[in-house]
Amino acid sequence: MAFLRSKLPFLSVFFFCFYVSPSISTNSEGNALHALRSRLSDPTNVLQSWDPTLVNPCTWFHVTCDDHNRVIRLDLGNSNITGRLGPELGQLQHLQYLELYRNNFEGEIPEELGNLKNLVSLDLYENHLHGEIPKSLAKLKSLRFLRLNNNRLSGSIPRELASLSNLKVFDVSNNDICGTIPIEGPFRSFPMESFDNNSRLNGPELQGLVPYDFGC
Ligand SMILES: *[C@@H]1O[C@H](CO)[C@@H](O)[C@H](O)[C@H]1NC(C)=O
Ligand SMILES: *[C@@H]1O[C@H](CO)[C@@H](O)[C@H](O)[C@H]1NC(C)=O
Repeated sequence: MAFLRSKLPFLSVFFFCFYVSPSISTNSEGNALHALRSRLSDPTNVLQSWDPTLVNPCTWFHVTCDDHNRVIRLDLGNSNITGRLGPELGQLQHLQYLELYRNNFEGEIPEELGNLKNLVSLDLYENHLHGEIPKSLAKLKSLRFLRLNNNRLSGSIPRELASLSNLKVFDVSNNDICGTIPIEGPFRSFPMESFDNNSRLNGPELQGLVPYDFGC
């Protein structure tokens, strides 16, 4: 008995380390989200629950995980957040919904968002994003909703986006997009309002008649 009593504390410490440390060392999604947060200004404290010392980010507000504790949604629309998005968002490999609309996000759309193979919805509308729409978004084969309207985006619409056969809603209105509008794939069915208020954007592409990025 004396032997057992003396060994028990040792054993429980051993099992504690064994069960807990693998989870800590695989919390790459929590680390990625925390890296994002560290660059943001959050005057209304919507990110207050984002405690990086927890085993995973699944209990944080505005973060949703699946049954395997993998992040599948980030819901931060209408949250008064200011700051830049970063490459670390590309590490959320299982993300399906990235909802960052109606904030004050600035800077460029990270091309690493093209790594989010499971993304269904990318809503960045009504922010202050500038730069070009990354061509890498054409890798998001599950994408159904791509709303980038009401920002300061420039350059032409990446023609590669016409390969996104699941795309149902596309909106780049109220930006500074130039060139012509693709006419293939899902672009056959988007309404003209999706392209409104881009003073340098010409109409649908007239293949062979003018260069695709005419006026850029
Ligand atoms: C955002 O800021 C406005 C004005 O400062 C405030 O009225 C609103 O409640 C804030 N929104 C959130 C989600 O906290
Ligand atoms: C384009 O701008 C006009 C004038 O500001 C506005 O009334 C209209 O709603 C805008 N179109 C879209 C699709 O937002």
